[in-house]
Amino acid sequence: MIIKCVEQLKNIRGETASLGFVPTMGYLHEGHVSLIKKARQENDQVVVSVFVNPTQFGPNEDIETYPKNIERDQAMAVSAGADYVFYPHISTIYPEGASTYVTVEGPIANILCAKSRPDHFKGVTTVVNILLNMVQPDRVYFGQKDAQQAILIQKMARDLHMPVDVVVCPIVREYDGLALSSRNVHLTREERKQAQCLYQALQDAKNLVKSKDQKAADLVQVMKNRINHKPLVNIDYVEIREARDLSPVTVVKAHPDSHKVSLALVAAWVGKTRLIDNMFLNEE
Ligand code: PAF
Repeated sequence: MIIKCVEQLKNIRGETASLGFVPTMGYLHEGHVSLIKKARQENDQVVVSVFVNPTQFGPNEDIETYPKNIERDQAMAVSAGADYVFYPHISTIYPEGASTYVTVEGPIANILCAKSRPDHFKGVTTVVNILLNMVQPDRVYFGQKDAQQAILIQKMARDLHMPVDVVVCPIVREYDGLALSSRNVHLTREERKQAQCLYQALQDAKNLVKSKDQKAADLVQVMKNRINHKPLVNIDYVEIREARDLSPVTVVKAHPDSHKVSLALVAAWVGKTRLIDNMFLNEE
């Protein structure tokens, strides 16, 4: 069932023992489906939101062309196990005059995607806060593909003592390894083929770590070489960081202790589409 107003959300919260929430920007794919299924398993009721949040797009970004199809989203969400699809009007989320933002400060907010998308995470943390205040779930679900987003939201929830469990679920991939993203529909056939190199680059790094410890800088070079081979793919960043808090890493251990798992992260333009991906290199 589609719901549009906060009163309806209040009723659901009031009547439900445990509530799971999956915030999305719509154009759902199997990655979202996996989050909804997980929420279904762990909660009595599940709310999925579909809201293309303008405050997380920069002035020259793709909000105008961001794919939309609410009928399809509703059908997919319900068949994955959602009880309600919250599809708010922009004025429900941002009433006239709204000018309060929630930002996570510190090094983690100025690296990786934040460099090329300066106000992006401020928009994300603000809208996630608003949505959590409206839905009041026990658990909220995010995908590991947006690794920096997931870590920032976990940190925000911790720092602000928010009464919600932030659950991060594994990346879902296409047959050839490409991470699922709503933006993949923008790729031409040739771009789609070349986009596979992002996954291959991550896999290259992971394979090298299997046999012995590696310098992070060497692994980054191997990954860049793989990607630079593809003329339609332009690197934004390739980095290796600690999975827990995205702090810098110099050596990636083949056998890390539990606090030293490394994460390789890539962002690249494939034609006009910006894609991101990441992989744990040395799970314990
Ligand atoms: O990951 C997304 O789709 C968005 O950033 C989110 C968390 C729904 C906030 O708009």
